[in-house]
Amino acid sequence: MEPVRSLRGIVNVPGDKSISHRAVMLGALAEGDTRIEHFLAGDDCLATVRCFQELGVQFTGSGEEDVLIVRGRGPEALREPADVLNAANSGTTMRLLAGILAGLPFFSVLSGDQSLRRRPMRRITGPLQEMGAGIWGRRGGEFAPLAIRGGGLHGIYYQLPVASAQVKSALLLAGLFARGETTVAEPAPSRDHTERLLKYFGAEIKIAGNTISIPGGQRLSGRPVKIPGDISAAAFFLVAGACTPDSELFIPGVGVNPTRTGILEVLRQMGADLEELNRREIHGEPVADLRVRSSPLKGTVIAGELIPRLIDEIPVLAVAAAVAEGETVIRDAAELKVKESDRLAVLAAELRKFNADLEELPDGLIIRGGRPLRGAVCHSHGDHRMAMALTVAGLTAGGRTVVKNAGCVTVSFPRFYDVLNSLREK
Ligand code: S3P
Repeated sequence: MEPVRSLRGIVNVPGDKSISHRAVMLGALAEGDTRIEHFLAGDDCLATVRCFQELGVQFTGSGEEDVLIVRGRGPEALREPADVLNAANSGTTMRLLAGILAGLPFFSVLSGDQSLRRRPMRRITGPLQEMGAGIWGRRGGEFAPLAIRGGGLHGIYYQLPVASAQVKSALLLAGLFARGETTVAEPAPSRDHTERLLKYFGAEIKIAGNTISIPGGQRLSGRPVKIPGDISAAAFFLVAGACTPDSELFIPGVGVNPTRTGILEVLRQMGADLEELNRREIHGEPVADLRVRSSPLKGTVIAGELIPRLIDEIPVLAVAAAVAEGETVIRDAAELKVKESDRLAVLAAELRKFNADLEELPDGLIIRGGRPLRGAVCHSHGDHRMAMALTVAGLTAGGRTVVKNAGCVTVSFPRFYDVLNSLREK
């Protein structure tokens, strides 16, 4: 890949990954059809679809197209799977599905790829056991494969040790099947798509600050869902547009749920020329068109309650920080060590290959920006967001860049390179 002179045009981003997973899951538990429009047909969400097919749920459309219909027949229609359920690379599939399977009266086993089998699972197996599920994993429930004997759950009160939408969602979904009420308290707000979609599917859910309660034994009804564009996919183009000279990108229909818009706040703080236009609401989720133009960036501090609101955008924000003038400090982000890769270590190692000046902290990074980046041969470590972030670094660097193992972008953004190539003015 060569550096670009400017990036111009319209960027159509795929449907939101988090909401695509949840629409399939709630659709599968609901009674009646759920027609999902702008479904993200990436590897992660297709893994969720395949797991539900193994559980006996019927779908119309393979998911490869934009529209997928889930033929919901209520939770009783789900049956014991004949084989191990494969969540592939997807933490969301494994953790949320574990919550659902904990509530269903049969035996199942959940596994995934090498990266997923290294990610921490006690954060869900612990509280699900407390709710009465039989759930086991390697090393005392910490690692997949997970074996689950579901059913007979009772509600609990659970204080999350770290803000995690996946853990919160797993417990709320299990709570749907529990006797009594399940309450989850978060230390800081994480993405609330599960809560919004549960309400949209007709469930009662009570929200008081960072505490969410769900009464057990509720039924869901199938609904049409239009998935907003994924702000986590848009993020790569927001940074690329801001950092490349003489650029202007328009990204229509992006989800701007306030639990996800940390990236917009931080880029503005760094001096980005960013506009949100035509704000509207679609099926309970706020949506807007975004426009970014190139502008000089400056360093900033990213920490505290902001972290869960931009957790997946830190790889590309680190690239923006390397290009920006001055120092950027990222703290309170130890969760990045247990994502698809150890993103703190991988960012430090890979961005140094571009001549960036970074220091790895136990919970973040210090990035001393402004040093001219030079093209590099770098490696995605099989992590889709690292592949895309390193590609953005390559666009702004002088000289040629090679991102090895970049095929993993299919996890969340299968057409990433096609979209990028359509914008380049060399
Ligand atoms: C997700 C939640 C986040 C995020 C992940 C998707 C979700 O993880 O990093 O990519 O869909 O709930 P945590 O909840 O573990 O922080």
